[in-house]
Amino acid sequence: MKFKTFILAMACASSLAPQAAFAEDDNVLAYVRILGDTFELQIQAIEYVLAEGGVYTSNAVRHSMDILSTADMLNYVVGKEMSKPERAVDMDKWPWSTREEFVKLSEANWQAAKDLVGITENWVATGNNAGVAEGVQHLRRTCEACHSGDNSLNK
Ligand code: HEC
Repeated sequence: MKFKTFILAMACASSLAPQAAFAEDDNVLAYVRILGDTFELQIQAIEYVLAEGGVYTSNAVRHSMDILSTADMLNYVVGKEMSKPERAVDMDKWPWSTREEFVKLSEANWQAAKDLVGITENWVATGNNAGVAEGVQHLRRTCEACHSGDNSLNK
């Protein structure tokens, strides 16, 4: 009887342990989704300002700084919190397969966001928007590099 209880306790412990880890990963993913939505709206704001021209142009730098700041947060999360992305997500549905690749893609995203800050600063300073659309497209490509396949943002 005692032995059976022991076996039962072991079975419960082993089935509960991985669940606890997944719950933690779910929290990280929920948070990363919020960062993703933040990115999306800030990018749309720059695209809007670019299309409309005029009055909101000076905000383009602020929006790109917000994107850079969000990219900083994503870097922090993938570098520190998401120690095992392969445990948190279905790897078959993502274009990366190791944590190193994941971190690299996040850093490329950060670099594109940093470049966009420079490009929009130049736009606001000179009034010349050459390169802004390309900067935004380049940024979007770094998003897609991490998202492509089943998680593509272009669906
Ligand atoms: C290093 C990888 C990586 C990069 C770079 C990245 N994302 Fe994500 N993104 C994720 C992950 C992981 C999730 C969470 C997905 C999930 O929960 O299944 C996510 C979630 C999202 C979501 C929410 C999707 C949903 O289902 O709610 C959006 C929108 C999004 N990202 C947009 C972007 C945009 C725009 C960029 C570029 C500025 C970007 N992402 C860059 C990995 C990345």
